[in-house]
Amino acid sequence: MGIRLVARCVHGLESVVAAEILSIGLGSIVELGHREIHCDTAQPETTVQRLRTADDAFVLVATTPDIGRTKGEVAALTELVTELDAPALREARRRCGGPAEFGAGIAVSASFLGRRNFNRYDVEDTVGAALSERLGLQYHSRRNGARPPDHCSGWRVVLDGRRARLMLRIAVQPLHRRAYKLQSVPGSLHPPVASAMVQLADLRAGDWVLDPCCGAGTLLVEAMHAQPDARYSGFDIDPAAVCAIRANAANTLTTGSADAANVPLPQGSIDRIVCNPPWGGQVPARGRLTHGSTPLWAELRRLIATDGTAVVLIPDTRELAIAIRAGFHPTHLQQIRNSGKHSFIVRLTPNRERNR
Ligand SMILES: C[S@@+](CC[C@H](N)C(=O)[O-])C[C@H]1O[C@@H](n2cnc3c(N)ncnc32)[C@H](O)[C@@H]1O
Repeated sequence: MGIRLVARCVHGLESVVAAEILSIGLGSIVELGHREIHCDTAQPETTVQRLRTADDAFVLVATTPDIGRTKGEVAALTELVTELDAPALREARRRCGGPAEFGAGIAVSASFLGRRNFNRYDVEDTVGAALSERLGLQYHSRRNGARPPDHCSGWRVVLDGRRARLMLRIAVQPLHRRAYKLQSVPGSLHPPVASAMVQLADLRAGDWVLDPCCGAGTLLVEAMHAQPDARYSGFDIDPAAVCAIRANAANTLTTGSADAANVPLPQGSIDRIVCNPPWGGQVPARGRLTHGSTPLWAELRRLIATDGTAVVLIPDTRELAIAIRAGFHPTHLQQIRNSGKHSFIVRLTPNRERNR
């Protein structure tokens, strides 16, 4: 029998995750919602662990109507646990490549859409206590800022205004955690966002791929995973970032310290650029980028091959005007919302008029 899976993702990437689900043959999409994609699996269900644009993947456990806005209604969420068939659920998770047991404890995280007179901890503690009673396992609340132990099974409750849903995480760790990320830097990109950018870049075997502000190398490592037969170069002005990318990419690319406005590579040599430049949030722009992004766009335009493609994360659409002035033509724009912040993924090709 098929299993109903729920993939959760950054807002704005729902259609990208749906496309990845279809491309890896995981199953048929039955619902596309806010940060959620529901699919009925085909076999083998273990392909779910290959998803790279999703934050996490779950087995759907139960659905009930959403509760109202008031705290008094939260107790009704215990209904999500009433019909729980523990052996069937364990088997579904095992078939998806997850552990066969529920672990030594229970961790719940909750989210909801719309204004409510209760908070996430009210939901988590109510459902966690019901699960604890039902499964005979200890529940670890997050209410006082404590982090549940690693060996817990991860449960998720989502209230979307119409329905309340209970899900069980398949893997022990969320899918967005990558084993390669041994070192990080401030502003390091969320791997599923990097993976979505890489998909848009449409990497071909033999391409030369550059990230001129590579940080810990998330974009390049995701790119290497998608297209192992390309050539990769990453530069960063900060020597600490160069150390981080060397640790994460295990010397499978050429890397060095350089200013993104003065990259030591020949004109027109780069087939694909993937980049998450420093926009002055968590990471200040340094060197020649200190006074604005015009020198960056000019350098990207110098480096890109005539049939090249650049995929860049930008903070707002004003950046597009600067890219266009530098000689790029936008071919795709996608808004995402990650950690409460809006940004845009833009795909650009060099404006051919400028090549004449
Ligand atoms: C947002 S972070 C990139 C994070 C990276 N994508 C990752 O996932 O780790 C921006 C990076 O730009 C670097 N940077 C700042 N000014 C630079 C410049 N002028 N040239 C090259 N890199 C620069 C910072 O050191 C930082 O590592």
